[in-house]
Amino acid sequence: MNIEQLKQEFVNIYGEGEISGFFSPGRVNLIGEHTDYNGGYVFPCALSFGTYCLIRKTNKPVFRFASINVKNREELSLDELTTPLKKGNWANYPLGTIAQFVKQGFDISTGADLMFYGNVPNGAGLSSSASLEIATAVAVNDVYGFGVEKVELVKMGQKAEHEFAGVNCGIMDQFASGMGAADSAIFLNCDTLEYELVPVKLDGVKIVISNTNSPHSLGSGEYNERVAQCQAAVDALKPYTKINQLADISWDEFKKLEDKIEDETVRRRARHVVSEIERTVEAVDALKAGRLEYFGELMNASHDSLRDDYEVTGKELDAMVEEAREIEGVIGSRMTGGGFGGSTVSLVKDEAVDTFIENVGKNYQARTGLKPEFYVAEIGKGGHKVF
Ligand code: GLA
Repeated sequence: MNIEQLKQEFVNIYGEGEISGFFSPGRVNLIGEHTDYNGGYVFPCALSFGTYCLIRKTNKPVFRFASINVKNREELSLDELTTPLKKGNWANYPLGTIAQFVKQGFDISTGADLMFYGNVPNGAGLSSSASLEIATAVAVNDVYGFGVEKVELVKMGQKAEHEFAGVNCGIMDQFASGMGAADSAIFLNCDTLEYELVPVKLDGVKIVISNTNSPHSLGSGEYNERVAQCQAAVDALKPYTKINQLADISWDEFKKLEDKIEDETVRRRARHVVSEIERTVEAVDALKAGRLEYFGELMNASHDSLRDDYEVTGKELDAMVEEAREIEGVIGSRMTGGGFGGSTVSLVKDEAVDTFIENVGKNYQARTGLKPEFYVAEIGKGGHKVF
């Protein structure tokens, strides 16, 4: 759907008048998985697909929410803006974001009409929800003239997810959606929020996203369980070292102390996180040095650790990765995002991309009965005004 069509849809729903439009992308994470809520490093890129938010400030005391993707619409009065809707309602994401402005004391004394259109495949683990939150944050911040810094908008998006979707997520997805830059990956320290944009100019290589079409759902509780297990690991290590989060311990020190974590599952969860943080740092160095083969090996090791120690892959993601690794010209392949379904990310040599899509597609479908989808990633820029 193009911009003119979106404007027309908006007019069909809300009538003629002034409209502003904003866009915020989904993301793919190259490496550094389940490290963000442990204060570790991540290395995501913003994608060229994401969510549009069209908005018009009104002089009525109501907020109206509509979507091109979903049928149900919501209309809420100003005093209902901080109360979540029923679980599973899509409007919780924009509402939860607006709630953060209200809670922080920004003056929202008149309402607005909002309409969303997303082209991030839902449930693909490519952060459609973060793109919805950040599109809302950027839009409201602009039309109400609040002047909030981008990074603060990112934090508001994360809070919306915690409070209105019940997922205790880290900051990676919202950060990538807000701060992404074309042709760059973001090397982000999730503890300090210091970051570096690293150019991703892959000569002769494409980033291929493979959607398992086995929907991932973070609301399932498995995600929050992992967050709690990481905290349990920190608690178990506290008597032996100075540690507040798993990012505070090096891999070498962890190896010496891991036996102090009595619960075997908790120990494996921590092993994944601490090793993954190390892999992420190494991977960024490898990319900068042009050592793509080593980057690929680290991607593979990341997936294996997420499969064996963190147990967030599942049979569809594993099948997709196994089939990818069979293809000559695949440099590395791993799950991306929260896991439990969703997508994988692979580095594939240009000349192998067609074979990859054909053979991985066929073999994956034969193994799982699910029809996958493939996208060659284009790295886009973070949330911004379109018109
Ligand atoms: C989800 C969360 C992120 C991050 C990833 C795993 O996408 O929203 O904060 O934890 O899972 O790396």
